[in-house]
Amino acid sequence: MPRQRPIRPKMQRATDNLRADHVLTERALGALCAIGQQVRAGGPFPAADGATLLRYLRDYVVGVHFRMEAELLGPALAMHGSDATAMLVGDVMRMQDEAADLVLALVVFWEPDGALPPAEQAGFADTVALLCQRLRRIQELEENDLFTTCEREVALDDQLGWCADFAQLERERGTAASWAERLAAIAARWSGR
Ligand SMILES: [Fe+2]
Repeated sequence: MPRQRPIRPKMQRATDNLRADHVLTERALGALCAIGQQVRAGGPFPAADGATLLRYLRDYVVGVHFRMEAELLGPALAMHGSDATAMLVGDVMRMQDEAADLVLALVVFWEPDGALPPAEQAGFADTVALLCQRLRRIQELEENDLFTTCEREVALDDQLGWCADFAQLERERGTAASWAERLAAIAARWSGR
C-alpha cells in the first residue's frame, strides 16, 4: 500500500503568518491614506469605513500582530541573534509603541456623524500620514531583516509553537481571515482615489 504523504500545514512558519498580516495591513493603509487625503482636501470623513479601519488597527495590528512580534519573535531574536539584531529588535519595538500611540490618537478624531470640524481635518490627515509612514517602515525592517534572521536562527519546532499561540490570540480578538473580508470591501471602495 503506497505511503500517504503527510499534509503539510499551510503557513508552517510563524514568519509566513506575519508576512501575510503585512499584506493585509498594507491594504488597510492604502484605504486609510486615501481617506486622509480626502479629509485634508476638506471632503467628508467616512465614518463607517474609518471606524472599521481603526478597529482593525487597534484590535488586530496592535492587539494581535504587534503582540505576537513583541512577545514571541522579539525575545527569541534577542536571545539567538547578534548584538545588532538585538538592537534592531529594540528599535522596532519602540516604533511599534509609537504606532500604537498614533492609532489611539486617531480614535480621538473619529466622528460618528461624518463631519470632522475644519480645525481637526489637518490634524487627522497628518496623524494618518505619520502612522502610515511608521507602519510601512516597521514592516520593511521586519521583512528585510528580522524575519529572515528568525528563519535562519530559530528552530521550526519553536515557530510551530508560536503558530498555536497566534491562533489562540486570533480566536480571542478576531482572526486575520475575518478582517480580510471586511478590508477587501473597503480597499475596493478607496482604491485609485
Ligand atoms: Fe509586523
